[in-house]
Amino acid sequence: MRLFATAIALAGILAAGTAFAKPVTIKFSHVVADSTPKGQGALMFQKLVKERLGDDKVKVEVYPNSQLFGDAKEMEALALGDVQLIAPSLSKFDKYTKQLQVFDLPFLFDDIAAVDRFQASPEGKKLLTSMEKKGFIGLAYWHNGMKQLSANNPLRKPEDAAGRKFRIQASDVLLEQFKALNANPQKMAFAEVYQALQTGAIDGQENTWSNIYSQKFYEVQKYITESNHGALDYMVVANTDFWTELPTDVRTELEKILNEVTVEVNKMAEDLNQRDRQRIAESGSSEIIKLSKEETEAWRKAMAPVWATFEKDIGADLIKAASASNA
Ligand code: LMR
Repeated sequence: MRLFATAIALAGILAAGTAFAKPVTIKFSHVVADSTPKGQGALMFQKLVKERLGDDKVKVEVYPNSQLFGDAKEMEALALGDVQLIAPSLSKFDKYTKQLQVFDLPFLFDDIAAVDRFQASPEGKKLLTSMEKKGFIGLAYWHNGMKQLSANNPLRKPEDAAGRKFRIQASDVLLEQFKALNANPQKMAFAEVYQALQTGAIDGQENTWSNIYSQKFYEVQKYITESNHGALDYMVVANTDFWTELPTDVRTELEKILNEVTVEVNKMAEDLNQRDRQRIAESGSSEIIKLSKEETEAWRKAMAPVWATFEKDIGADLIKAASASNA
């Protein structure tokens, strides 16, 4: 009997030991291609974690291109613990916090350098915790780039967009932005955009050069207007419980790695976008329309009413702080 009890106890200790030795698995799911800033960042994170912590401690699995979860599902999956890290575009959080809508206001940021300055400011940093009550913690901001407008008709003046169907990310600010142009915006998951453009279900869309290139949107859009009318940036988010319950030494090392990756992603994002702009220009598939100062001003004016619509939800002070980040 005593022998039996000892054997049971020993089995228990062994089982506990095995459970303890089990590596932490971090599934990092995202919707873009490996070649884009976010895609590169996820792979860099995976590589550094393997080098510094080793697969027996933390195993990072990267799922690009909406392979595991698309736009509509990735936040839910994070809440349920089906994935541990995601990095949605800042436009996709408006169900969880109104403050992040500031990033979608048209012509708010002159360029990504201004976005970077705002994110590094006390107001910008505070937004990383704006979804804490919902169980999500923001760990970093990653850049993609400024958005361009594409369509099968040339978009030189705001009136050229009237009556056309545009795909937008799941953001009410972007909805109003296209309504201000008298266009028909349609919220749609990123993974569905290429086919919708190809079949003519939609006429156009807005995105960065790296997304337009890697998703081959330029092959099914005759014109791309270099409008730089808004920013497309990301927040790397984790489930707060998962993150805070990691062993302290592991979490500290992961945060260190993430900070290093963030610096690298944000350094290379602009180059990757310019590289892809060049590839599109060389492809001859799509004509790039450059806007004069006056033409840009007309787009700014047409989209301007959107600011007032969202001022109360976002907060006038936050909009002011973001505007102040322009050089
Ligand atoms: C989009 O849906 O157009 C983008 O948010 C995709 C991405 O993650 O860059």
